[in-house]
Amino acid sequence: MKKIKVLDKEFVLSVSSEKIQEAVRHTATRMNKELKGKNPIFIVILNGAFIFASDLMKKLNIDCQISLLKIASYHGTSSTGTIKDLIGLDEDIKGRTVVIVEDIVDTGLTLEHIIGLLKKHSPKAIKVCTLLFKPKAYKKKIKIDYVGIEIPNDFIIGYGLDYNGYARNTEDIYVLTK
Ligand code: IMP
Repeated sequence: MKKIKVLDKEFVLSVSSEKIQEAVRHTATRMNKELKGKNPIFIVILNGAFIFASDLMKKLNIDCQISLLKIASYHGTSSTGTIKDLIGLDEDIKGRTVVIVEDIVDTGLTLEHIIGLLKKHSPKAIKVCTLLFKPKAYKKKIKIDYVGIEIPNDFIIGYGLDYNGYARNTEDIYVLTK
């Protein structure tokens, strides 16, 4: 079993690169069919989604635009950060079909904030795509249109996901050892 050490913690292989790429291909095939003629704009949420988005976008053969956005969260004295804004939304999304591209949806709180912010710009439709989804952690009702892989409620890293900023640069996904 493949193992890696990141800072003070040990992780073991959870989702192989082959399985990830299969999910990417499957998602792209669905998008090519379902979003054809809709001229979608993909909103990629940085930092985590950059590797997934890069692999996914190369497999799309439809007319589309891609925008990379960062969430600015302002931490006050409390430990919970409040998301205030999306940095980098240059394109006019009014009347457009928007597809949010996320690396992972956990509780769904981040997703809810992002959708709230995007709605202010009056898009025609908002769709959601995530590579990874933790159904047992999910607390929201928002429909997730494209889910790559469902995973247990454990902490994972790799393929864009980090532990304190490290380990985004692996081809496989690893889970924290218990
Ligand atoms: P939320 O709970 O759905 O709002 O997820 C918030 C954010 O936490 C995600 O966008 C990720 O950046 C991060 N996150 C959630 N679960 C994991 C994980 O297992 N590993 C690394 N980051 C995670």
